Amino acid sequence: MIVRKAVIPAAGLGTRFLPATKAQPKAMIPIVDVPAIQLVVEEAARVGLHDVLVVAGRGQVAIEDHFDRSPELEGFLEAKGKTEQLEAIRAISRLAQVHVVRQQEPLGLGHAVSLARAHVGDEPFAVLLADDLIHPSAPLLAEMLRVHGKYGRSVIAGMEVPKPDIASYGCIEPERVEDHLDRVVSVIEKPDPERAPSNVAVIGRYVFTPEIFDVLDRITPGSGGELQLTDAINLLAQEQAVYAYRFDEGRFDVGNPLDYLKATVELAVEREDVGPAFRDWLWDFAQRRKLV
Ligand code: G1P
Repeated sequence: MIVRKAVIPAAGLGTRFLPATKAQPKAMIPIVDVPAIQLVVEEAARVGLHDVLVVAGRGQVAIEDHFDRSPELEGFLEAKGKTEQLEAIRAISRLAQVHVVRQQEPLGLGHAVSLARAHVGDEPFAVLLADDLIHPSAPLLAEMLRVHGKYGRSVIAGMEVPKPDIASYGCIEPERVEDHLDRVVSVIEKPDPERAPSNVAVIGRYVFTPEIFDVLDRITPGSGGELQLTDAINLLAQEQAVYAYRFDEGRFDVGNPLDYLKATVELAVEREDVGPAFRDWLWDFAQRRKLV
């Protein structure tokens, strides 16, 4: 069955980004000048997922507004003859049909995904986490959809990380199936690195069969006292094959301020507009501060 829908859990309180997230959704924090969630919706739209459900928290109306038409702004840009900006603004509202459901309590990622059930129904669907940005040229989601098409099962993204870092991720116990593809034997959320079954981390891209909703109903609070998506995937993997698509480049972590800064710099130097001048400045800055 063709995958048409994407779910973007975005309700987190963003505590690692306070005070920026006190009155603004974390997913709206920009990478240079584009909100992270727009980059994620663009990624979904590129592979044909034009039905997007955002799981938002209280007070996160900025997300809905961002993907809506903005007659006042559009009228202003039109009157000023700013055609390029006008087109860019209009294009955002044409990217996808964006729906929003509210997560009323911060009970965890598993709970957030379970709220998508009524919208998704009995279809396979993708989940994209806005903390993990994937480079626009990386074919990760397209490859995951291809694997889903081939095997008809759930596919999660996996990437090797330094062993101590596995404590910050879901950790996959893999069994090699083919190049770039493992079968998930088990998966455990944020394990102690000493006891982790591997250094293959779950990265925030998933393609699920609808059976994930049944297992999400059966999980109990896990790591951090939250309902963990990883625990549901582990249950699912015991009932039907779950695959992990292994990739190793093109992922930017924007989950905390330091990694966010690194991602912003990396993506800024690649930009056609500000990139060349920023690169020159960066080089000059590094020399002035004797960093190189
Ligand atoms: C979430 C998931 C985790 C996954 C990670 C990827 O964790 O629970 O399994 O490895 O995203 O970024 P979080 O970063 O929300 O703690």
